Amino acid sequence: MSDDRRIEQMSRRRFVHLTAASAAVVATGSLSLLEACDRNAPAGPDISPGLLGSGAVTGNPLRIPQTLSPLNATLVPAPATVDLGGGRYSSARAYNGAFPGPTFRASVGDTVNVGLSNGLTQPTTIHWHGMMVPTAEDGHPRDAVAPGGSYQYQYTIAQRACLNWYHPHPHMLTGEQVCLGLAGGFIINDAEEARLGLPSGLPFEVPLIVRDAILDRAGNLQYTPMGGVFLGNLPLVNGTRDPFLAVDHAVYRFRLLNGANARVFGLTLSNGVVFNLIGNDGGLLDVTRQLTQVDIAPGERLDLLVDFRGIPAGQKVVLRDVSTGWTILEFRVTQSTPIAGTIPTSLSTIPGLANPAATRVFSFDGMNRINGKVYDLNRIDFRVPFGQTELWRFRTSGMMPMHGGAPHPVHVHGASFQVQSRTGGRGQVFPWERGWKDTVLLGGGETIDVLVRFDRFRGIYLLHCHKLEHEDRGMMTNFEVV
Ligand code: C2O
Ligand code: CU
Ligand code: CU
Repeated sequence: MSDDRRIEQMSRRRFVHLTAASAAVVATGSLSLLEACDRNAPAGPDISPGLLGSGAVTGNPLRIPQTLSPLNATLVPAPATVDLGGGRYSSARAYNGAFPGPTFRASVGDTVNVGLSNGLTQPTTIHWHGMMVPTAEDGHPRDAVAPGGSYQYQYTIAQRACLNWYHPHPHMLTGEQVCLGLAGGFIINDAEEARLGLPSGLPFEVPLIVRDAILDRAGNLQYTPMGGVFLGNLPLVNGTRDPFLAVDHAVYRFRLLNGANARVFGLTLSNGVVFNLIGNDGGLLDVTRQLTQVDIAPGERLDLLVDFRGIPAGQKVVLRDVSTGWTILEFRVTQSTPIAGTIPTSLSTIPGLANPAATRVFSFDGMNRINGKVYDLNRIDFRVPFGQTELWRFRTSGMMPMHGGAPHPVHVHGASFQVQSRTGGRGQVFPWERGWKDTVLLGGGETIDVLVRFDRFRGIYLLHCHKLEHEDRGMMTNFEVV
C-alpha cells in the first residue's frame, strides 16, 4: 500500500469516530478502496471493512472457535458458507460448517473417538498433526475416505500437553482442502502443565490460527497456487479478516498455529510488548524465553504469554508480520484494573536424546522430491528400528530461491524430534526450535540435524515438506517403524 493511501486510511479511521452517520458514508469509501486493493493484489489489506453492521468501529471481533470434546464427536467436512467477519460471507469447505473447525480439548489418558463423515466430492482423511497415534489412525493418504464414506478415528492420548491440530491429508489434495478451510486446533492438557497455573480456557487462553488467503471478486476463498506455492494476499486469524481482540489488564496465553499453506510469518508486537515463549510443537520448553520476534512456519505451533498490564486502557497493541508489514491482529486494551497473573520462569525438564545409532540424510530437492524421488503412495522408502535413536539430517540447496523451492518446513509423523544444529543459511537454532518439535523450517542452503526416536508405534509414517503444494507434488516419503 502506498504511503498516500495509508495516510488517507488513517485520517479515514479518525474521521470514523465522529458520528455513526459519517461512519456510514465512510463505509462506502472504505469498501471501494478495499476492492481496488483486491484487484491489484498488493500485500494484504491494512484496511478495515468492518464498518458494515458494526457501527463506528473498524475491524472485526476475533472469532474464537467453539471448544469440543473429542471423546465422542463427529467431523463432517463439507462445502459451507462462512462469515469472515463483518458479514462478509465466503464459500468454503468447513468441518461442521465452522471455519476454522472446532478446537478439541482433552487430557492425557483420554481416548479420542472422532467420526469422519465425508461430505466433500473428493476423498479426504483427518490427520492429527503432532498426535502420536497408531498408523491406522494417522489419516495417511492410503486410508482416504471416499465421498459419502466414513471412518472412526480412535486412539488414546499418551503424550505431553501441547497444541496440535487436525487437517485433511489426501493424496495430492491436501493443499486445496486446507486452503479452502479444513483445519482445526487440538489442545492436550496434562498435570505438569496444570501445576504451573497458566491461563487455561477463555478468556485468557486464546487459540490463534494464523494463515493467509486469496478471495475472488465475489469474496470467496480461492485456491490459486502460483509457481508451485500458494501465497495469499490477505491474513486471517481464526478465519477472521482484520481481527481485533479486546483484552484486559492481564497476562494472556496465545496458542499460535501457522495454518497457512506456504507462508512463513515473522511476528512482532508494538508498544515494546514482548512475547514470553513457553512452548512449541511438542509442549512446554525448559524455561521461558523473552523475545521481540518469533518466526513460525506452516505446521509449527507456539505457546506465548503476553502481559498487557503495562499498557494504558484505550491503547492498542498490534501483532504484525515483519515481511509483509501486515497487521495480523489488533489487541485493544479496554480494562485498567490489573488482574493477577504471573509468568513462570522455569517450566519443564526436557530429557535430551543422545547417542544416535544411525544417520539418515534427506535432501529436499526442488519442489517435489526427497533424495531425488517423487512420493509414491505405495512405496516404503526406508525402515526405522522401533526405539532406536537416530540422527536425521535435512538439507536443501540454496539454488533458485525465487523458483518456489526452499524454505521447506520439514514435518515428521509418528514422533517428535530435537533440533541439534543448523548450519548454512541462518546458521543457528532459534529459541522456538528448542524442546520437542515435529516441524522445522529448512531454509535455502541449510543443513539441520535432529535426533529422533520412534518409540510409540510400529507402522507406516510420513516425512514431508509442509509447504502443502510441495507435499502434493510429491515432496514426501513413506517409512516404516519396524
Ligand atoms: Cu500437518 Cu503430514 O501434516
Ligand atoms: Cu503431521
Ligand atoms: Cu518444500
